[in-house]
Amino acid sequence: MTVPAPDLNFRMTHDERARSAFIVGLKKKANLSIAVELESRFHKKIVPALQQKLGRPLDDTSREDRKAVIEALKNEQLYRLWAYVTYLSQGVKWELVEEIFAKDLPRLQAAADHFLSAPDKKCTLTLNPDLKIPANIAKVEIHRQPGGFSRETHARDIAAGAKYNFGATMGPSAGQGRAGFKPGRSAGDFVAETIKARYPALKPKRILEVGCGTGRNTPSYTRQFPEAEVVAIDCAPGLLRWACAFAESQGAAIHFKQMDATDLEFADGHFDMVVSHILGHEMTTQGLPKMIAESWRVLAPGGVMFHADVAIQPGHINLFDQALNQWQVRHNGEPFWMGWADADVGGLMKKAGIPAADMFTEYMSSTERGGEWFCYGAHKAQKQRVVP
Ligand SMILES: C[S@@+](CC[C@H](N)C(=O)[O-])C[C@H]1O[C@@H](n2cnc3c(N)ncnc32)[C@H](O)[C@@H]1O
Repeated sequence: MTVPAPDLNFRMTHDERARSAFIVGLKKKANLSIAVELESRFHKKIVPALQQKLGRPLDDTSREDRKAVIEALKNEQLYRLWAYVTYLSQGVKWELVEEIFAKDLPRLQAAADHFLSAPDKKCTLTLNPDLKIPANIAKVEIHRQPGGFSRETHARDIAAGAKYNFGATMGPSAGQGRAGFKPGRSAGDFVAETIKARYPALKPKRILEVGCGTGRNTPSYTRQFPEAEVVAIDCAPGLLRWACAFAESQGAAIHFKQMDATDLEFADGHFDMVVSHILGHEMTTQGLPKMIAESWRVLAPGGVMFHADVAIQPGHINLFDQALNQWQVRHNGEPFWMGWADADVGGLMKKAGIPAADMFTEYMSSTERGGEWFCYGAHKAQKQRVVP
């Protein structure tokens, strides 16, 4: 009898697939139908009424105007319907995930154990049980994921990582009708290819990914830069175990380490590239500047720091979308969403000692994925400039 090779794919019954499709449909209903109709009411009714009351045009960058829009939206039945459907769809998503995992987790754990204990392993995993997991992850159920990212019940536990990945299949991209990356490609390919195109002379020997999570993007760096040593850190152990098992299943050699991105345990200038994907918007207003400063500190002269995150800054998106995002902060497991949106990322890089001439903040879209990135980072000069 042949034993099937262990795999990290989620298994759903026919009915569970139908429920999953229903949940994505519900999210699309909220985002592509209810919110669209509500936005049309916003432009036709709320904007003129507020402008008349204030005696001036609304300003997409004003927090006061954002508050006024939120108050006005609260009187709209459609807003309450949008909030209800959004809240409900996220709740039933996690109910489905929990049900599937109640059956499938032992198999997924065994598959992960298989990869994590392979005798000829390419990856390494270094956990630090003494690490004080930062409060943004230890105390918050981000995305309303039950138990959050950091809960673990035993020393090999991969549940947090498995749930994170599975939950993402019914997450914002799917709910907004956006296609994900093509199979075998990830946000890491987008970042790596952008860096290659912009800095063709850079031949990184060491690459660091901060806040790698379940490592969805990390193997892209070993593919894109086969000569480089790739290190990936996160503070959540269950995500790292999953990330390591996933990378091993892909044959990618990556060193995963449990570490706090705001307090990196690497020497100054250790890496030629420091990257992240959707990390900043999950950090506190105290954590974000530290993460930027640490990314810069561990970057070698001549190296590139490149962070890609959600493009939800006021002015880039209008007051209506900001109001809906503000709701997500309080009710839908995105507590740091608006702190991120309002952060002056350029100012934070300046405070970290990055010369203005070397840094960038830029909106970019990846050709194969709908939606935009807010990218920020810097190229460290070979010879350090004196920052005034
Ligand atoms: C939205 S997830 C993104 C994960 C991954 N980069 C991806 O694209 O799927 C944000 C990640 O940042 C990690 N994180 C947040 N704050 C951190 C910190 N201070 N130190 C290390 N990791 C942190 C979380 O544990 C989580 O895995």
